[in-house]
Amino acid sequence: MEPALGLYVHVPYCRVKCHYCDFAAFSGQKRTAGRYLRALEREAGFWEGCAPETLYVGGGTPSELERGQIADLFGLIRRVFPAAGFREISFEANPESLDGDKIALLKEMGVGRLSLGLQTPDDALLKSIGRLHTASDFHGVFGEARAAGIAVSVDLMYGLPGQTAAGFGAGLREVLDLEPEHLSLYGLQVEDRTLFARRGVESDEELCRRMFEGAIEALTLAGYEHYEISNFAKPGHQSKHNRLYWKNGEYIGLGCGAASFWKGRRSTNHDRLIPYIEAVEAGARPVSFSEELSGKDRLGEAAMLGLRLVSEGVSVAGEMGEAFHLSWRHLEEQGLVRIAAGRARLTGEGVFLANRAFSEFVPPYREGDGAPHGTFHAA
Ligand SMILES: C[S@@+](CC[C@H](N)C(=O)[O-])C[C@H]1O[C@@H](n2cnc3c(N)ncnc32)[C@H](O)[C@@H]1O
Repeated sequence: MEPALGLYVHVPYCRVKCHYCDFAAFSGQKRTAGRYLRALEREAGFWEGCAPETLYVGGGTPSELERGQIADLFGLIRRVFPAAGFREISFEANPESLDGDKIALLKEMGVGRLSLGLQTPDDALLKSIGRLHTASDFHGVFGEARAAGIAVSVDLMYGLPGQTAAGFGAGLREVLDLEPEHLSLYGLQVEDRTLFARRGVESDEELCRRMFEGAIEALTLAGYEHYEISNFAKPGHQSKHNRLYWKNGEYIGLGCGAASFWKGRRSTNHDRLIPYIEAVEAGARPVSFSEELSGKDRLGEAAMLGLRLVSEGVSVAGEMGEAFHLSWRHLEEQGLVRIAAGRARLTGEGVFLANRAFSEFVPPYREGDGAPHGTFHAA
């Protein structure tokens, strides 16, 4: 059975900011960590009585915290959520800030999944995107996590400036030789407010597509299931926590920039560090945006999230089919979606053009869509 409630905790510290990164992550701010952890505990208090079943500590770079701070973080979570029965605990880490002692502590705290940010095992490329670690640092911590019996997910990026299809393929093979339980593959997005945007870096869609196609083939051959657009898992190793997002489940997000979805309401916290901390210290909920989706917008959101689950897709039974019957038909005609046995799934082409498919599910909707009950019949 899928978990009913997830807990995400954001740790916004990084030693340096990567040239492509637009996340709520700050360098040179670690002196605020004690204050931040106290704010997290106070914010968590707003959710007292909840019993989350998955925990994901993400960032930023959670492994930037000192050992004692990591222990404090898990301590506060256990104090505020004594009823939590975590079926999965994931922790994000960078090779330069992880070591055997921290890995042993994570194991003791119940972490069963480590999400390691590698991006590429090419040292020159790593340097050029602002990373502080080398491929060899990555291999070291990977081996230690393995020895501790922690499952590892590796983040890789494609479409980086100067990266070739052959280079990306070789890097992927190097990682596959280690047989990680899970891989996340992200095509470079040049986000505003990043060094890459200021430098005018552009992504080459054709090259990205070739790299991603090659990766899907290699990963499938190596026994990974392509279960979500960017995610691949060995059998039994899909991320339970992230699946909850894609299944439109409920989750609590604590910390700077974190998002929650609870009783039909989505909310996002302040994404700047000090305003987040100050709001909590003043006794307020640190929320900067909140909305309740209803009717067609709620279904549209569920359609976009569900389609991300490549192999599973989303049910188009009932109102989901009816509300978007013109869109579903259009997507099928375009070859972006296939509908079978009452479920819609992205096609191979749809995986590459997912954003085009998703645009059907955000307003303005197709005119005339939203037929009365009974007029959409899923094959
Ligand atoms: C929350 S970040 C992980 C941060 C982690 N501290 C690290 O540096 O590896 C999650 C992943 O998103 C991906 N990512 C971040 N920014 C991206 C961008 N602009 N384009 C594509 N992928 C990105 C990277 O692969 C990164 O590992």
